[in-house]
Amino acid sequence: MAAEPRDALDAAARSRVTVVIGESDTGKTSLVAALANALFSRDATVAIVDADIGQSEIGPPTTVGLGRVTRQLGRPADAEVVVLRFVGATSAARDLRATVQATGQLVDRARALGFERVIVDTSGLVRGDLGRRLKQAKIDAIAPDLVIALQRAGECEPILRVYEERADRLRVLRLPAVASARRRTAAERRRHRDQAFAAHFAGATDIVLDLSRVALRSPALFVGTPLSASELRRIEASMGSEIFWGERRGREVTVVTSSARGEPAVRALARELSVARVTARTLTDLVDVIAGLDDENRESLWLGVVRRVDFAARTMTVTTRAPRARVASVTVGRERSR
Ligand SMILES: Nc1ncnc2c1ncn2[C@@H]1O[C@H](COP(=O)(O)OP(=O)(O)O)[C@@H](O)[C@H]1O
Ligand SMILES: [Mg+2]
Repeated sequence: MAAEPRDALDAAARSRVTVVIGESDTGKTSLVAALANALFSRDATVAIVDADIGQSEIGPPTTVGLGRVTRQLGRPADAEVVVLRFVGATSAARDLRATVQATGQLVDRARALGFERVIVDTSGLVRGDLGRRLKQAKIDAIAPDLVIALQRAGECEPILRVYEERADRLRVLRLPAVASARRRTAAERRRHRDQAFAAHFAGATDIVLDLSRVALRSPALFVGTPLSASELRRIEASMGSEIFWGERRGREVTVVTSSARGEPAVRALARELSVARVTARTLTDLVDVIAGLDDENRESLWLGVVRRVDFAARTMTVTTRAPRARVASVTVGRERSR
């Protein structure tokens, strides 16, 4: 028999870390807010970790956010942002590992900061092998005391099965999904995401980052020895594509080209250069793409949109609201700005 919503509060009140899972529109985010409010009104210090990188509440889409509850929330977005971690995609399906890792890190941070109650909201991706793997990896990274599953027809059971034997350390509570909720369409979700991006970028200006001072984490460029002009010309001839940049790191070469080249051409180039591996990127993988601008602790200051990379000057022009002087590293994500 499914539990009552009241049981959720009783269970969460006895748990340091609670994670809520379920498909889209099952009421996860609303339940997270309701639990946070109820625990806060019982004088607990409460944190919310928003691990839904698509329909984000804390921080913009592409980030996992840690928020502090300082008052009764209308929604989790009303929490005060403590830390954001850039994942770079708006669906965990595109980078399972980064999403899981960022979620685990922010829950650990919430524990380290001494929050008495930590509530984790998640994305609606629960179905299929991908959903099962993602949610199990998240639960394992979070190490919660309580998992609340909101279900319509037992769709979370494949995820939950492996936790049954851990009943001494991990409690699982099953609740019915909210019945009245209208299912939002993919287009509505996208619109909501675009509005969140627009709000985040309101008032942003272009800044120029000096990439000999600011680390480009992904793609990791400017970390090796630049290829010589003659090497670049040779590669250009071999690949039949304009080369903007090339560098060598031990037995590996990375190039940035004007147009994408297939795997055979890339392997042929590796043989020609006698290196173990060639990584070929195109300029379009970098430009007009959303990037995370992080401080020296790898916490996201703000998102940016990469506008230009000047390989000769080693600079990158980015539209952002991040203060230039505080940017220590840049991670270019997988989401194009539109
Ligand atoms: N207990 C509830 N009763 C009625 N409607 C609800 C309830 N909880 C959530 N809703 C509505 O259902 C929709 C989806 O809720 P939400 O919490 O955003 O779900 P999820 O985070 O699982 O996608 C929202 O429109 C919300 O207002
Ligand atoms: Mg939600």
